Amino acid sequence: MWNNMNPIGGLLLVIVSAYGAVVTNYNQLGAAKQGNLITLKDLQVPAGVTLDLTKLKPGTTVEFSGRTTFGYHEWAGPLVKVSGKNLKIVGLPGNLLDGEGKRWWDGKGGNGGVAKPRFMEVNIEDSTISGLNIKNPPAWCFVANYCKNIHISNLNIDIKDGDKKAGGHNTDGIGVGYSNNVTILNCKVHNQDDCFVTGAGSDILIDNLSCTGGHGISIGSLGRGAVVERVTVKNSKIIKNMVGVRIKSTRGETGAIRDITFDNIELQGITRYGIIVEGNYLNSGSAGDATPFPIENIVFNNVRGSVVRKATNIYVNIHPTSGKNWRWSNINVTGGQKELKCIGVPAGVNVNCGKK
Ligand SMILES: *[C@@H]1O[C@H](CO)[C@@H](O)[C@H](O)[C@H]1NC(C)=O
Ligand SMILES: *[C@@H]1O[C@H](CO)[C@@H](O)[C@H](O)[C@H]1NC(C)=O
Ligand SMILES: *[C@@H]1O[C@H](CO)[C@@H](O)[C@H](O)[C@H]1NC(C)=O
Repeated sequence: MWNNMNPIGGLLLVIVSAYGAVVTNYNQLGAAKQGNLITLKDLQVPAGVTLDLTKLKPGTTVEFSGRTTFGYHEWAGPLVKVSGKNLKIVGLPGNLLDGEGKRWWDGKGGNGGVAKPRFMEVNIEDSTISGLNIKNPPAWCFVANYCKNIHISNLNIDIKDGDKKAGGHNTDGIGVGYSNNVTILNCKVHNQDDCFVTGAGSDILIDNLSCTGGHGISIGSLGRGAVVERVTVKNSKIIKNMVGVRIKSTRGETGAIRDITFDNIELQGITRYGIIVEGNYLNSGSAGDATPFPIENIVFNNVRGSVVRKATNIYVNIHPTSGKNWRWSNINVTGGQKELKCIGVPAGVNVNCGKK
């Protein structure tokens, strides 16, 4: 293992490339990227700097070891960025990427207060990410943008410290954008915004995701023609979130949502909607009539559990031309006393919008 590498060119880098490098100081990273095993050990990333794991050589393994920390700076981030092909990003046992978000938290997230950096963004192909423990990002936690053939497992995003007043806000857990063939397996999120969200992408499988405290699992178009298709969410648990599962299209936007399956989903203590499909979404608060937007081949099977009394079990509000070929079966969402009339449910589909 190379501990104190000189970041110089030429022969030394050729030699280094045959070895792994242990990076304990940010200045060592540039040289370490010439090799194919990079171990980040108790790394302190300087303030206002991205932990730059971009343009990694194909076949590189990056290991996070010990506690990774970040200096305080009010900026857009991201604090960690990864790009390349054929990568393995691994959290070694006991690893922690500690955002120490409370230094930024003011309850306002991206809507005001100090500028808060995004935490981690990956743009990778034919790659895996496993076993990362991420704690208290300043805001948006993890996003996979423009990725292909990626497998993410055992990501543990713990932002429960942000639950308090003037705490974390817009701490979205896992986001996927414009990506194809993404598997997200055995992950956990405790946060204050979407647990999982995709606004554009295809062939996405979420299996065994556990969500606590946030805004639920959301499948919905970013608009501007974005398409979300072939997404399956299964064997997952959503606890004390504002929403359980949601499909949404933004009012007035274009795009499509197709071939979406929710299967074996357990809800507990949901505070606003157990299941919602909406075609009038606006970030500022859904309002007005839903606009036409294809929401087709939608399966809800075995979605069950409870919402709180003031919540709505199931709500659909889409344009009457939007929904086609829906199959809802074994749905049992109970507890909500706020009854809302559904609009736009395709004919022949049995959606129980009444309170139970
Ligand atoms: C999807 O990605 C996985 C890696 O996560 C890969 O093994 C598989 O071959 C890919 N599937 C297709 C159809 O490319
Ligand atoms: C689901 O994921 C959790 C980690 O979040 C893991 O402990 C558990 O074993 C997984 N369950 C199955 C059935 O794989
Ligand atoms: C639906 O869930 C409620 C509450 O958990 C339960 O009492 C009821 O038996 C369930 N109904 C069906 C048809 O499974």
